Amino acid sequence: MSTVSVATAREHCVTTRTLATRKRRGERITMLTAYDFAFARIFDQAGIDCLLVGDSLGNVVQGESTTLPVTLEEMIYHTRLVTRAAQRALVIADMPFGSYQASPEDGVRSAIRLLKESGAQAVKLEGGTQVAATVERITAADIPVMGHVGLTPQSIHKMGGFRVQGRSEGSRQRVLDDARAVQEAGAFSVVLEGMPADPAGEITATLEIPTIGIGAGPGCDGQVLVMHDMLGMNDWTPSFVKQYANLGAAAATAARVFADEVREQKFPAEEHCYKGKGQ
Ligand code: KIV
Repeated sequence: MSTVSVATAREHCVTTRTLATRKRRGERITMLTAYDFAFARIFDQAGIDCLLVGDSLGNVVQGESTTLPVTLEEMIYHTRLVTRAAQRALVIADMPFGSYQASPEDGVRSAIRLLKESGAQAVKLEGGTQVAATVERITAADIPVMGHVGLTPQSIHKMGGFRVQGRSEGSRQRVLDDARAVQEAGAFSVVLEGMPADPAGEITATLEIPTIGIGAGPGCDGQVLVMHDMLGMNDWTPSFVKQYANLGAAAATAARVFADEVREQKFPAEEHCYKGKGQ
């Protein structure tokens, strides 16, 4: 295939430039998490702009109570499944805990591995002023970085639990400073998680880069949800989540009906059987 036809084929793909244009035009950006080929394909075909391979896979796929145990190898594996399916959406891979905290050099090495071995187009990492040097080093290696400030799940033990940020004046100033720091360091976008709508709206109005909110109110440039939350696949749903489907209940009903039909010898019926010679 020539470079011209490759360019034509990718014309409708979402890129970091697309997101910048959306912000300029006041058009909202959509993002969902995805961790495997099947759901990535469904969301991509549904027109979701960005697929985030979040380290939330520690919670919703692996059943861990925090995201801390997730490894770089696991992120690479799941991101590869998602990039195989994504034809249009921008795929962003989370940098897991331990892959960038020790030094900016560690961060660059981990980001290079993530992009090279998974096919993602961008990485996301948590933190503000304290990771600005790392964001700068990764973007200097031409790897687009999405920041993540406010409630940052990798800092659960420092925060003393999953706590909404930006409520007090001091905390509000901290999230503002953090968001500005990642923009100054070269991030193309930033996730605002777990904060009142007020500071999120102020950050969105102040920053040039698009903000993507989760539990941060309606004033952000885009919204992201964890797929298991919005599809009703978990035992409980956080209050900031809208559940758009109940796949958990649908899957449980399907499993029960299947089991009943096997026990009652209704499945497989004739139409589910291969035909042998002469049949
Ligand atoms: O890991 C994740 O899914 C995330 C989103 C909650 C933004 O970081």
